[in-house]
Amino acid sequence: MIVPRLIERKRNGAQLEPEEIRELVLAYAEDRVPDYQMAALLMAIYFRGLDRGEMNALMDAMLESGKRLDLSRLPLARIDKHSTGGVGDKTSLILAPLIASLGVAVPMMSGRGLGHTGGTLDKLEAIPGFTTALSLAEAEKQIARIGCAMLSQTDEIVPADRKLYALRDATATVEVIQLIAASIMSKKISEDLTGLVLDVKRGSGSFLPKLEDEVELAKAMIDLGSAHGCPVVALLTAMDRPLGHACGNSLEVAEAIEVLKGSGPADLIEVTMALGAEMLVLGAVAATLEGARTLMLDAINSGNALLKFEEIISAQGGDTGVLRDPTRLPYAPQKEDFVAKREGIVKEVDPREIGYGVIALGGGRRNMEDEVDPSVGFVIAAKPGNHVAKGQSLATIHARSSDDLAVARSVLESAIVIGDAAEPPLPLVSHRVSARGVEQFA
Ligand code: URA
Repeated sequence: MIVPRLIERKRNGAQLEPEEIRELVLAYAEDRVPDYQMAALLMAIYFRGLDRGEMNALMDAMLESGKRLDLSRLPLARIDKHSTGGVGDKTSLILAPLIASLGVAVPMMSGRGLGHTGGTLDKLEAIPGFTTALSLAEAEKQIARIGCAMLSQTDEIVPADRKLYALRDATATVEVIQLIAASIMSKKISEDLTGLVLDVKRGSGSFLPKLEDEVELAKAMIDLGSAHGCPVVALLTAMDRPLGHACGNSLEVAEAIEVLKGSGPADLIEVTMALGAEMLVLGAVAATLEGARTLMLDAINSGNALLKFEEIISAQGGDTGVLRDPTRLPYAPQKEDFVAKREGIVKEVDPREIGYGVIALGGGRRNMEDEVDPSVGFVIAAKPGNHVAKGQSLATIHARSSDDLAVARSVLESAIVIGDAAEPPLPLVSHRVSARGVEQFA
């Protein structure tokens, strides 16, 4: 294999053969191809795309780069949910314990922050002591014991995606339908699932802001799932504004805990319930989506969902005290309210600006080696369509220094736009895509 030849062919718009993709991906996972060559190929793919055959070969090669979970002896359905990436999206932190508390096994392998979006692993690691680097054997044992493990890819599990994901993040090559589909589905197929629910984000804060691309992404992932015997349902959900209020790792964990205790922002609860209902129906624990919602509310009201989160945190070495006292989570030393400069209607809360703002404060990565500071971010009270008075608090900034407070102020000044009227925001859950086709709700 001569890598520059492969880069050249893709750059010129040719198709790569499945065997070439396999050889390249396996060599990259084993550090036999340097990042600079892979980065050049990714950029060529960004401009030239991959066809279905190339996407399938990429996913299969990523799967082959590691081992897989074997959960076939469990007498439970094994259902996970995965998001294509958003800002303020902490639904995984709620759904893993909630669904596991209802008798469905949830093997949840997640990613880190990517581009402007946050990552479940970075959020979990905001909990002091929490480790996501479980071995396959540890994850299998934990899932058999408590029904859930929340883990990262290691050298054992889909290592090729782990490396490629970090490289795409650092080289502005995330936004390619086939790369996203292969990345997500390689992780999910390696979890030995009996079903998967996907949250495909829509709108300006998603990786693919055009509706037709989002539907194509959902269909690509459904096809990859079907080819591996894993039924997949996708919901298209709004990412034209951040989900919930908290954006930043520690702050998001605190907000997820609120929901598990029966409160929290209405939009976050609605999206979480819609995804959870699909998980329970796929897992055959509920016959209908309505029945599933009742089960979830009972699990929250009885405290069982929170108890399951406590079990997960304890099993993975984290401080369970954060559930009773969220101030045990890391908090930034500087806190400041950001207020409206005029009266009016909130026209926009731009999720991309907010996501990059969290990174600017140190809450995400600018390059592959960066450490994440879990304590920083924003709690944004303002939602598009809200009427606000001059001087009213729109958001709270959590930052490390007074210089960072100034950075955060300028981020919020461009992200939160106040005018005289606002366009209606996207519906929180607008479409459902399954092997049977596309349903539109709103
Ligand atoms: N989530 C993933 O796991 N991979 C992507 O490429 C995008 C979102």
